[in-house]
Amino acid sequence: MEDQYIHLLFFVAFILLLLDCNSLDTISANQEIRDGKTTLVSEGEMFELGFFSPGKSKNRYMGIWYNKISYGTVVWVANRETPIADRSGMLKLNRQGNLVICSGGNPMVWSSNPVESMQGNNSVVVAKLLDTGNLVVLDDNKTIWQSFDYPGDTYLPGMKFGKDLVTGLQTIMTSWKSPDDPSVGVYSDIHDTNGYPQNLRFQGEVLIGRLGPWHGLGFSGFPLDKTNQIYSLDFVMNENEIYHIYKLKSSIAQRIILTWDGRTLTLQWIERIQDWIVYAESEVDNCDRFSLCGAYGICNINKHPPCSCMQGFEPRHPEEWEGSDWASGCKRKKPLTCGDGKGDGFLKIPGVKVPDTRRSWYNESMTLRECEIACKRNCFCTGYANLDIRNGGSGCLLWLDELLDTRVYDGDQDLYIRMVLDNLDMGRGFSLG
Ligand SMILES: *[C@@H]1O[C@H](CO)[C@@H](O)[C@H](O)[C@H]1NC(C)=O
Ligand SMILES: *[C@@H]1O[C@H](CO)[C@@H](O)[C@H](O)[C@H]1NC(C)=O
Ligand SMILES: *[C@@H]1O[C@H](CO)[C@@H](O)[C@H](O)[C@H]1NC(C)=O
Repeated sequence: MEDQYIHLLFFVAFILLLLDCNSLDTISANQEIRDGKTTLVSEGEMFELGFFSPGKSKNRYMGIWYNKISYGTVVWVANRETPIADRSGMLKLNRQGNLVICSGGNPMVWSSNPVESMQGNNSVVVAKLLDTGNLVVLDDNKTIWQSFDYPGDTYLPGMKFGKDLVTGLQTIMTSWKSPDDPSVGVYSDIHDTNGYPQNLRFQGEVLIGRLGPWHGLGFSGFPLDKTNQIYSLDFVMNENEIYHIYKLKSSIAQRIILTWDGRTLTLQWIERIQDWIVYAESEVDNCDRFSLCGAYGICNINKHPPCSCMQGFEPRHPEEWEGSDWASGCKRKKPLTCGDGKGDGFLKIPGVKVPDTRRSWYNESMTLRECEIACKRNCFCTGYANLDIRNGGSGCLLWLDELLDTRVYDGDQDLYIRMVLDNLDMGRGFSLG
């Protein structure tokens, strides 16, 4: 009941704010947006920018929220760590293209600090709120700063999530501390570019989850309806940037949110009920917990217990393993011969979410056969797989460390793990070098 009351108050506050406001979609240098006086509204009225208070908080933040649908649902906050205690907040764009928030007592509550410099002294700078929810600063029509590069807890369609290799800028999603406090909470999602890129989830400093690397059609181990009419997912990797991007195919509204308590939800707006429903949730079962089964363990959610050792491996600490504590993982029954590699072969494990790729190496043009040879030549190589599963498979991904966080997955990606030849079950797929 109390919650509903608060929601009502929140809603009324927004309506009052709306009535009181003049709305534009662009501000020019030295124009300002004042708390309670002005807001920006994107051209098609999808999003609005202004000052607000989240949940039960009385603090004021500058942010962007939905306008046409789901009025007041916040998608981005500027001064997350520096709230304003009163209604003296003001957003300005200065001549240098820097967005600055100030308040009665503080000339610099927050600033955008554009990465790219201005074109010249006579160039025209404006800040514009787009219908995608992106706030951009344009210098003679060139984007010198955009809020999409600095997401908070919300990922909107059209955002690039990854790393700009030229500027070093990396997008990170961070949860709010609580529904009433948008300051940086304990959960974060990052597109990690060590080894072959993959998305990692942290709780503080601890790695707790992983979306598998891109395999051409989607993320390894991530359910994707390939024929869906709602969205498309893409992955781009070149010398300038590495990112994935998600786009909507229709006018349906979706957003992905990292909740304050660590869930990643894809939410979809349903016009009929005027509310968001959970369209998809990543991390839904035990096998999604990072490395639940330890090194060389393999997680199968349809088995009880879910953890087992890969073939040719046995529990490192059987007592712990018996007690359902699988974290110490598995060890080889027989050590690799390595040396010239002649005594080693590979066992195929079909249909998996491939292991953690932070300590991996890859080549996009090598064949599976070349990949096997490359793996065999390297004493540290523990396994390999095709990088791209499309058209019968291409590219080489090989692991240079213990295999962590592998799970049985009803997908199309196969993993080849290294072991001594006489450990291979000859009836199963294997190959000689
Ligand atoms: C802008 O003006 C300053 C001072 O007048 C000058 O030093 C600088 O070179 C100018 N920059 C450009 C890009 O024109
Ligand atoms: C910026 O874009 C607008 C609209 O497309 C155009 O009219 C204007 O000439 C452009 N300005 C510059 C400096 O390119
Ligand atoms: C990838 O492999 C191909 C074929 O073996 C080779 O020509 C190419 O140089 C390799 N690329 C990199 C970046 O190692």
